[in-house]
Amino acid sequence: MNSNTLKKALQDLKYPGINRSIGELKLLGDIKVIGDKAKIELLTISDESYLNVKKLIEENFSDIFSALDISKKNLSAKKDMNYGNSAAPNNRAPYAKNIIAVTSGKGGVGKSTVSVNLAIALAQRGYKVGILDADVYGPNIPRLTNTDLQRIKWDDNNKIIPAENYGIKIMSVALTTPSMDTPLVWRSSVAVNALIQFLEDVAWGELDFMVIDMPPGTGDVQLTIAQELPISAAVLVTTPQLVATDDVSRAVMMFKDINVKMAGIVENMSFFIAPDTKNRYDIFGSGGGEKIAKKYEVPFLGGIPLDMQIREASDKGEPPVALGNNEQKKYYQDIIENILKNSKFTL
Ligand SMILES: Nc1ncnc2c1ncn2[C@@H]1O[C@H](COP(=O)(O)OP(=O)(O)O)[C@@H](O)[C@H]1O
Ligand SMILES: [Mg+2]
Repeated sequence: MNSNTLKKALQDLKYPGINRSIGELKLLGDIKVIGDKAKIELLTISDESYLNVKKLIEENFSDIFSALDISKKNLSAKKDMNYGNSAAPNNRAPYAKNIIAVTSGKGGVGKSTVSVNLAIALAQRGYKVGILDADVYGPNIPRLTNTDLQRIKWDDNNKIIPAENYGIKIMSVALTTPSMDTPLVWRSSVAVNALIQFLEDVAWGELDFMVIDMPPGTGDVQLTIAQELPISAAVLVTTPQLVATDDVSRAVMMFKDINVKMAGIVENMSFFIAPDTKNRYDIFGSGGGEKIAKKYEVPFLGGIPLDMQIREASDKGEPPVALGNNEQKKYYQDIIENILKNSKFTL
C-alpha cells in the first residue's frame, strides 16, 4: 500500500455512528507510507473525535502496517485549516430563512437563557421564530419556556409537532424523554443523529429565524451543525469571569476557522443591580466583554446584569423579555437590535 492508496482507503472509512465518511468530513491531513510504516495526520477538532477516528483506523489498518503513527494536527495553530465542508454546508433546514447559533465556551454562563430571550425578542418584532435546543447534554429550553410538561405529538404527515409558547416554536430532546430529569449520557454520534432528526422531522413550518441553543464548547455537535446548516450568525455568550479564558478564545477561533460569521459577543451577568436600591455595581470590573470583542474583531452586542429576578423568573419558565420589567426586556431587545444591524439576514 502506498501513500495514495492508503489515503483513498482512509477516505472511505465511515465515521462511527454518522452516515458520513472520513473523506467527506475532511478529517485527513498529511498521509505518508514509508516501507511498512504509515504516518497519518488527523484534522479532528475535539479530542473525542480524534480518539474515535484513531481507533477506527487502528481497527482497520494495524494488520497491514508494522507501525501506525496517528497524530492530531494542532488546529488552533493554523488559521486556514479546512474543517469539513462548513464553508459550503448542507441545508437540513430549508424552511428557515436564517439560522442564529448561540454558543459559549463553558456551561452555566446563561447561554440557554439568552437563547430563549433573543428568540422571543425576534418574535416580538413580528418574525416567525423556532428554537432548537441542541444542548443535548443539558437540555433546558422546555423549562425556560414553561413547556416542560408538553409531550411530543405527531401530525398527519408523521412529523413531530413542536411545542409552542411566548410566540415561538420549541423543540428539545427534553420533550422526548419520560422525565425532564433523565440524564442524557449520549455518545456524540447519537446526539448528532437526534439533532438531524429534529431538523428534518419536525413540522417547523416556514421560519424567519431558527435560533439554536448549542452545547457549550467546541466538539463534534458544533462541528456537525456547522456542516449541516448554513449558520447566518453565531452569538457567543460569556460571563466577566470567563472573558479572558481559553474556553472563550477557543470558541471564537473555532467559528472563525469553520467560516461561520460571528454576530458578536454577549456578556451575561455583566454587572450587578441591587434589588433594593437598583444601584449598579461593576463587581467584576467593567468592559471585559468589549475588550474581548475587540481582541477578536467581532462586535460587542451588549451586557445583561446579574439580576436575581432574571434567575427566578427564568427558572419558573417566565422569560424576562416577555414578562419582566421594561429594563429587563430592553437588555435582550437591544441585543437583537444589534444582531440585526450587524449581520446579513434574508428577510
Ligand atoms: N442575567 C442573569 N442574572 C441572573 N441569573 C441568570 C442570568 N442569566 C442566567 N441566569 C441563571 O444562571 C443559570 C444558568 O443559566 P443557563 O441559561 O441555564 O446557562 P447555560 O445554558 O449556559 O448552561 C440559570 O439558573 C439561570 O436562571
Ligand atoms: Mg443551557
